[in-house]
Amino acid sequence: METISFARGVPAPQLLPIAELADCAKTAIERDGAAALLYGHTLGYQPLREWIGERHGVDPVRVVVTNGSLQAFHFVLSAFAGAGRVIVERPTYDRPRKILSGFDEVALDDGGLDVDELERLLDGGERPAFLYTIPTFQNPAGVTLSEERRRRLAELASARPLRILEDDPYGLVRFEGEPLPTLFELEGGRNVMYSSSFSKTIAPGLRVGYVIVPEEIATGLEARPGDRRGRHVRSRRGLRRRAELGPSRLQLRLARRDRRGCIAAGWASPCCGGGEPAVAAPRRGLQSRG
Ligand SMILES: Cc1ncc(COP(=O)(O)O)c(C=O)c1O
Repeated sequence: METISFARGVPAPQLLPIAELADCAKTAIERDGAAALLYGHTLGYQPLREWIGERHGVDPVRVVVTNGSLQAFHFVLSAFAGAGRVIVERPTYDRPRKILSGFDEVALDDGGLDVDELERLLDGGERPAFLYTIPTFQNPAGVTLSEERRRRLAELASARPLRILEDDPYGLVRFEGEPLPTLFELEGGRNVMYSSSFSKTIAPGLRVGYVIVPEEIATGLEARPGDRRGRHVRSRRGLRRRAELGPSRLQLRLARRDRRGCIAAGWASPCCGGGEPAVAAPRRGLQSRG
């Protein structure tokens, strides 16, 4: 029997845009070969930083292109090393749990992070290094932070102040409904840092993600010797080229939506016990609730 694993947020192999990415890589090397094959800028390929900066309405000096968004987590962690403990959601993405030697936790419910519990934790303890949160289509719980709680959390970030790393790799993998404002947008990006990834929308093997941080933190990173963030510059150039080609995101969404129908139907199939589906059809891809 074939096993379908829901443990990781991985695109289906049939949906990887292989021919399109090959074309992007060829064009990137032909157009900008010498730069593409040399060490890149520490903070990432400049045109891609500009493109990301434009999408989020921020100065590109604040954009750090990373080898996947997990590296963005490492980077933020190292920037605030010694500044206190990290608060994570219970449950949270398994990788940060493994990376952190100790952490505090705040529970999730159907409306996302329990902001009352967070406030109690903040009232009773030392100032944390930062809160790591996945407000949209959370991994692994699949829940999305409600708009009311987003506004409260954004207010807390400014009022306390509380540093937040908002990890948002799934926001663009939406099948229906309107996107909610990000914490980053609501708070204005002063105490909220925002990371995302092209792993879920294009391909995880590209290893391209990014984080938007205050300018002084980006500058501090640039000055650090021996850092390897300049790697994978070809993927980054290719990605910029893909943006120029015009993303086939609609096609991908439709394909994923079809697969969502299969998942919902699959629960009811004899191999899953038959009967009514045990979960609602997901509103987005990759994790099984939402
Ligand atoms: C919440 C979350 N953040 C980050 C990542 C890692 O993304 P990347 O491949 O960009 O490192 C994942 C991957 O499953 C994830 O679920």
